Amino acid sequence: MNLKKMVGIKAAEYIKNDMIVGLGTGSTAYFFVEELGRLINEEGLRIIGVTTSDRTQEQALALGIPLKSVDEVAQIDLTVDGADEISNDFQGIKGGGAAHLYEKIVANHSKKVVWIVDQSKMVEQLGAFPLPLEVIKYGSQQVFRILEEKGYKPTFRKQADGTNYLTDENNYIIDLHLGVIENPHALAEELDRMTGIVEHGLFLNRVQTVLIGSEKGVEVRESTF
Ligand code: 5RP
Repeated sequence: MNLKKMVGIKAAEYIKNDMIVGLGTGSTAYFFVEELGRLINEEGLRIIGVTTSDRTQEQALALGIPLKSVDEVAQIDLTVDGADEISNDFQGIKGGGAAHLYEKIVANHSKKVVWIVDQSKMVEQLGAFPLPLEVIKYGSQQVFRILEEKGYKPTFRKQADGTNYLTDENNYIIDLHLGVIENPHALAEELDRMTGIVEHGLFLNRVQTVLIGSEKGVEVRESTF
């Protein structure tokens, strides 16, 4: 059973005619976008999508999903996205696919956010998954040095050819290998204050519904945010 496909298709049930829908990024969101394309083409669903990466934009365009940019819409009704880790109290790490900057902007302008994951993403405490930071190129070695001094075990994300990975905004990604994040809110505030970090992958108090795929089916968990 493909758990990512199962939750992706399930999430499409939340989409109704005339909604403005945030389209997430990653291998799980891929199946949601694919199902939306099917519903539009085969069942006449009418929606407008707002994408969270160049990759998702390409996929949505190929499927014929009508799109607007985040700046062209007043608000997004519902965003469906993946996640890299979700703790029991609904805090999350995103950015494994390096799209967390656009994803956070889209989430911030969404009335409701749904995350779709397989059960391997559910954790007691965040931090085993390296925390992604999008950093501008200028001064990035200095930001790296400061993060190293803080003991955050940073690494620049690399492409296959060994050069630094580039985001859709042409920035670098630094991953922090923290192991356990004892206080996600304090860390988020600290990273928010650091010049040169455009955005970090901590998504705190930002999701209303989590769909978790396992061999038993899809479990729906609702947060109080
Ligand atoms: C991209 C993301 C993705 O949602 C996250 O990495 C999960 O990806 P996948 O569904 O492929 O496991 O945050 O920036």
